[in-house]
Amino acid sequence: MILVTGGTGLVGSHLLYWLTQEQQKVRAIYRNKAGLAAVKNIFSYYTSDVELYFSRIEWVEADIINVVSLEIAFEGITHVYHAAALVSFNPKDYFAMRKINIDGTANVVNLCIEKGIQKLCYVSSIATLEKSTKKELISESSEWNAESNNYGYAITKYGAEMEVWRGSQEGLDVVMVNPGVILGPGFWHQGTGELFKKGFHNFPFYSEGVTGFVGVHDVAKAMILLMKSEVQNERFILVSENKSFKEVLFEMADHFGKKRPFIKVNKFLAELAWMTDLLLTKLSGREISISKQSARASLNVYEYSSEKIKKQLNFKFEKIQDVIKETCILFLKDKKD
Ligand SMILES: NC(=O)c1ccc[n+]([C@@H]2O[C@H](COP(=O)([O-])OP(=O)(O)OC[C@H]3O[C@@H](n4cnc5c(N)ncnc54)[C@H](OP(=O)(O)O)[C@@H]3O)[C@@H](O)[C@H]2O)c1
Repeated sequence: MILVTGGTGLVGSHLLYWLTQEQQKVRAIYRNKAGLAAVKNIFSYYTSDVELYFSRIEWVEADIINVVSLEIAFEGITHVYHAAALVSFNPKDYFAMRKINIDGTANVVNLCIEKGIQKLCYVSSIATLEKSTKKELISESSEWNAESNNYGYAITKYGAEMEVWRGSQEGLDVVMVNPGVILGPGFWHQGTGELFKKGFHNFPFYSEGVTGFVGVHDVAKAMILLMKSEVQNERFILVSENKSFKEVLFEMADHFGKKRPFIKVNKFLAELAWMTDLLLTKLSGREISISKQSARASLNVYEYSSEKIKKQLNFKFEKIQDVIKETCILFLKDKKD
């Protein structure tokens, strides 16, 4: 039987839908019952028979930092997809990220070894790849550089990767994906879903920073394909296209029939934005909304290569303009409902 962690999040919920198309029973962990409604909503994008496929998931309450609860979830499991993580650019979350992303992954890996799991598929990130200053595209061989100016989330995802590779040294078969910025419907109040919400509400700012983007459906598809394949102990970048935030935000605005963002964020504005936000945070006690890292990251130009998965598995990515279009349509549907 398959176990999915992070099933109530963006990647895990879409993954669960595709797994329930093939499997009569899949197990997934949850921390909070409210998360299950979000999964049903994701299923409703794909099918009118939500209950049929949703009922194929056996939900077990567990937290990856609580070994006792996790051990129960591992009973009778043969394959594990590990997508649970804390994704944050808020410096105050650093220690929580270390706990969940590194220690939590160590727990998953240890149980995989102890229970003789046949294969683990781990979701890492392009954040763990060395950002080359050279002209070549960033690839799977762009090894982490501890000397670089790494931010908290990247450090903890790298620490988690080390736990996964340690597991492979101890005899566990693993495969890893390193997705770029994942776009897809369903979680409009967090992560990349917020980009769509901002796009709908006439967000005025754009930057010419470039990064790799991928659709959530492709991430789920690649994970399932890699899990079923003979591939072992390798990682694969999942990036459909390298695009600027300007292009992505303009496409969103066009699909929503809104005015395109018109204020270009340069270095000065980016610094001003996070400093002003920090000041307001200190004065009002509210949460940070623009961290120093995310403000600076919006200006970086980093391009990635997904040639490895394209060549090795003949994988074809959905174009980002199509992902944006479909996601905008579902955003409008959810808004209407
Ligand atoms: N989104 C992106 O652009 C992106 C890009 C590259 C890589 N990734 C990676 O992809 C994976 C999935 O990301 P996502 O975008 O789907 O994130 P997400 O929507 O924030 O979902 C995170 C999932 O992890 C679960 N989780 C967090 N802490 C947990 C804990 N202590 N125990 C058990 N479950 C826990 C959450 O459960 P609750 O519902 O209970 O909170 C949720 O199901 C992560 O590993 C992330 O690093 C994401």
